[in-house]
Amino acid sequence: MDTTTTLHTGNLPQHLAIIMDGNGRWAKKKGMLRIFGHENGTKAVRETVESCARLGIGYLTLYAFSTENWNRPKMEVDTLMNLLVSSLEKELPTLQKNSIKLNTIGNTAMLPDGARKKLLDVIEQTKGNTRMTLTLALSYGSREEIISAVKKISEKVQNNQLNIADISESVIGAHLYTHDLPDVDLVIRTSGEQRISNFLLWQVAYAELYFTEVLWPDFREKDLHEALISYQKRERRFGKTSEQVK
Ligand code: IPE
Ligand code: IPE
Ligand code: MG
Repeated sequence: MDTTTTLHTGNLPQHLAIIMDGNGRWAKKKGMLRIFGHENGTKAVRETVESCARLGIGYLTLYAFSTENWNRPKMEVDTLMNLLVSSLEKELPTLQKNSIKLNTIGNTAMLPDGARKKLLDVIEQTKGNTRMTLTLALSYGSREEIISAVKKISEKVQNNQLNIADISESVIGAHLYTHDLPDVDLVIRTSGEQRISNFLLWQVAYAELYFTEVLWPDFREKDLHEALISYQKRERRFGKTSEQVK
């Protein structure tokens, strides 16, 4: 077994996606309300974003709020939406300093007006940045994304703009929210849960999966490096034999 414990800069994932989980449990362990965990999760977001940009990871996608998360208590949902606005305001200088372009995937029409406007504003202000694309998955659900793609494709078929025979992987990919992002190479999920929770089902077809017990507010650069080192030790075969990919 390869027991290397240092990260090398070659062979990093081009697209890293993170399911930031465990904010509520982190707060509960401290005898605090769940929202205290969300507030502290923003520090881990900042550190992770900056670390990824420094390392030269081209695409970072963060699962911030799922379509299913709308079913949480209203007070928690409101707090998360307010945190989104304040974080976008606070982090804009960090995005500019590191030349990070903000992007979003999900049914953002569902977001409250203030949050949607702030999001569009930061996307507009950072659109010329080239070092890394930071995508926030907000009101995101993979099944909903696939349904929306099927509807758009069906409409094109109905209007004779597309032949059924021409529907391919790339046609489907082009109608997903992620049309301008490469496939995901690595998914990290914190908090010990080992599930995908309706995140990028199409896009993770050949991603490596990494699970850590660390709760999201405690996730630091060393934890990111551990995940990346684990990724670098894996052989991605894409269905071929080991000899073929060597
Ligand atoms: C992740 O932490 C943040 C969101 C889903 C918005 P959780 O809020 O899911 O925290 P746990 O899983 O309940 O600990
Ligand atoms: C997934 O976490 C969604 C986000 C991290 C935004 P959840 O905490 O909502 O997922 P489940 O309910 O444990 O699967
Ligand atoms: Mg959770």
